[in-house]
Amino acid sequence: MKALTLAATTALGAALCSLAVTAQTQLHLMPQPQQVSLESGSLALDSTFVVDVPGKTSVRLTAAIDRAVRRIEMESGLRHAGPGVAAKTRLVVRAEHPAPSIQALDDDESYYLHVTAAGVEIDAATELGAMHGLETLIQLVQPGSNGYFIPAVTIHDAPRFRWRGLMIDCGRHFEPMAVIKRNLDGMAAMKLNVFHWHLTEDQGFRIESRVFPRLTGKGSDGDFYSQQDAKEIVAYARARGIRVVPEFEMPGHSTAWLFAYPSLNSGSGASGSTPEGIRREFNISTYAIDPTREATYAFIRRFLTEMAGIFPDAYVHIGGDETPAPDWKTNPRILAFMKAHQVKDNEALQAYFNTRVLRIVKGLHKHMMGWDEVLTPGLPKDVVVQSWRGEASLAKGAKLGYEGVLSAPYYLDGMKPAETHYLADPLPATSDLSADERKRILGGEVCMWGEHIQPRTIDSRIWPRTAAIAERFWSPENVRDVDDMYRRLEFASIELEGLGLTHLQFGDAGLRELAGTEKIDALRTVASVLEPVSFGERAHLQRTDQLTALDSFVDAVRPDPPSRHWFEAAVQRLTADPSGDAADRTALAAWFGKLRDAVPEARKQMDTSPRLKEVTARADQLAQLAAMGQEALQYLGTGEKVPADWKDKQAAAMEEMKKPSALVRFTILPGMANLVRAVPN
Ligand code: ACM
Repeated sequence: MKALTLAATTALGAALCSLAVTAQTQLHLMPQPQQVSLESGSLALDSTFVVDVPGKTSVRLTAAIDRAVRRIEMESGLRHAGPGVAAKTRLVVRAEHPAPSIQALDDDESYYLHVTAAGVEIDAATELGAMHGLETLIQLVQPGSNGYFIPAVTIHDAPRFRWRGLMIDCGRHFEPMAVIKRNLDGMAAMKLNVFHWHLTEDQGFRIESRVFPRLTGKGSDGDFYSQQDAKEIVAYARARGIRVVPEFEMPGHSTAWLFAYPSLNSGSGASGSTPEGIRREFNISTYAIDPTREATYAFIRRFLTEMAGIFPDAYVHIGGDETPAPDWKTNPRILAFMKAHQVKDNEALQAYFNTRVLRIVKGLHKHMMGWDEVLTPGLPKDVVVQSWRGEASLAKGAKLGYEGVLSAPYYLDGMKPAETHYLADPLPATSDLSADERKRILGGEVCMWGEHIQPRTIDSRIWPRTAAIAERFWSPENVRDVDDMYRRLEFASIELEGLGLTHLQFGDAGLRELAGTEKIDALRTVASVLEPVSFGERAHLQRTDQLTALDSFVDAVRPDPPSRHWFEAAVQRLTADPSGDAADRTALAAWFGKLRDAVPEARKQMDTSPRLKEVTARADQLAQLAAMGQEALQYLGTGEKVPADWKDKQAAAMEEMKKPSALVRFTILPGMANLVRAVPN
């Protein structure tokens, strides 16, 4: 027995976690619960479960329990319940109140989880809380020397924020049903509760309208969700405690609407043109829905009424971002309307449009949500503002009386490391908001925009980074230990892949295809220190559009590969104690050796595979980096001074390596710069 400091970092959790536990019992829960008390003893997983649900239970909770039990059985290698299997492990799940038919923002999501040597008890006010408790239970399973077990533990848990979302843009590239479902599974595992479904874009209208069939008939290339599909997703999400908030972009990002129904266009009739097709380019479109015609609102009313029959959630997102709408400045008919109604400019005209659409949304007994451009003077206070252009608009909105959801720091296409997203807080300790204003911060939403994703790569852009962000939305504000987050993220990542997500396997699949062989060990090693450039850089360098093939080397590497954080941490430890830290020196030397040795084999494949040729320069640079690392270790180890110009030469070489090449960048340059800097001179 050995006393360990546990990962529960909330003040109360830490105080409770003082008991001696076995060395294996380091928890890896993600998101971190509010209060964790680890007790002595454990529940051995040596037989399958006897499930007891006191009181009435629903089909939904029963199914959630069945899924959880099956996952625990799989994880621990238990035989599944069946003839001849004596179930012994007690699992009691109690949800006090029946669930309302539509999940709501204010639903109680708290739960209590108690594990003893005799069994498991989950108590919650609602099914939603009970389902969160089941997800935590799955993460508690640990391997031990005598088989799998669940440590004895008492957990009291509840989310910090009510709105914990993931937005997926299915407009620019369509994502098949299976992709959406597996991502919903991942969301549920990480306790996210809002799937924001971005369904319409300049590049595609993805939801079937029977009232206006040309929307998908002309606006989708045939790639869209039928109403039955959408209902299936809503049901699948609900079964996992996730609300579905649909987004229908208006008045901008609307080329697909306007190609299908040109009479909605601001340019039609008098000046300007109508779209000749759905948009293939990704830059901002100048087309916009005409806010001055009554027919526009009749159309939107009929459309949103139809959609309300598919999407039961209390919220509907109307987009509202990026609407330059030059036609509003030139179309004589629109100008005449503005003059007659004393609408002074485009912003005021969009505010008028929003007010009219809000009236429709309210008529459907729903709340309206929009991107932060909707925050204009006179906007009614019951619109929820989603901040994407910066964090300031969230606080500004809260001070003005608007509820808000933060997305600006959670754009996955920036290809930033998990830790950058993780440390960005919707309501930081430094916030100057009053108690009332704080309540208006509903939470946050991760955004996965669709320009550069396809079904094979999307998971790798979302996961595992979104698990770290999910913790930001769920766990206490002071849970901010980046090293511990990365430690637990590895477990979360494996759990997510077990659910069917493909964020780990996609890389090998992509490399195999590029190389035309199963022998990709060397290539994988090279790829392990490279990540995609940001969305903006790729768009600029490759001039991507909707028809760009997304199956290059950049599409087979992932943002923030684990080697980056491991390398930086090892360098930090070593440079703090160059002569004493033999373990890190040895590990780093071995790693540099592995990187160096991979290059010749990978280079050969690059020479013979047309689609890998572009990576040649990166491979050569990696050989240089590996040599640089080995030299630095040498100098650090001996304490010998480097030649006068050595550091400058390395810095210049690394500067060169920051330049664009093959749409990928090295993840190890900051760590290497620290290592080089620490060498004695
Ligand atoms: C957005 O990124 N245009 C909301």
